[in-house]
Amino acid sequence: MNRRDFIHTSCLTCAASVGLLSFLQSCTTNKYVSNFKVDQKKLSVKRAEFTVVKKGKTIQQKFILLKPENSPFPIALYQLPNDQFKALYLECSHQGCELNPYETALVCPCHGAEFNTKGEVTQGPAEASLKTFVTSSDAENVYIQLA
Ligand code: FES
Repeated sequence: MNRRDFIHTSCLTCAASVGLLSFLQSCTTNKYVSNFKVDQKKLSVKRAEFTVVKKGKTIQQKFILLKPENSPFPIALYQLPNDQFKALYLECSHQGCELNPYETALVCPCHGAEFNTKGEVTQGPAEASLKTFVTSSDAENVYIQLA
């Protein structure tokens, strides 16, 4: 490969990366929810917080983000099949960077580790799963046991 080809290939790769990043960022509209309660280390959030209306369409979000007071990192609350929920602490298990959550994966911006929505490592360098919280739910709310 000559120098010209190398520069051309590098520029295409860079442009593709920027495009992919923009696409992924567009998937993460502001999903932070401020309407939740914490009572005796138990966080409760309404199921309705997963539903948003955009441009007249009702959309069921796969996850929402919560940032309890005094928590250094947010929590991503995923709604899984069969009415199950998974609450993941967004601190990367590799070296502690804050993860970027997406609908089907969580990605670390520091060294590229990836996790599935159960918090399991799908790509290193991280080796350990994410910290999770016990969840429960009823007809109206989802509960996260913080400690
Ligand atoms: S801190 Fe997340 S991969 Fe290194």
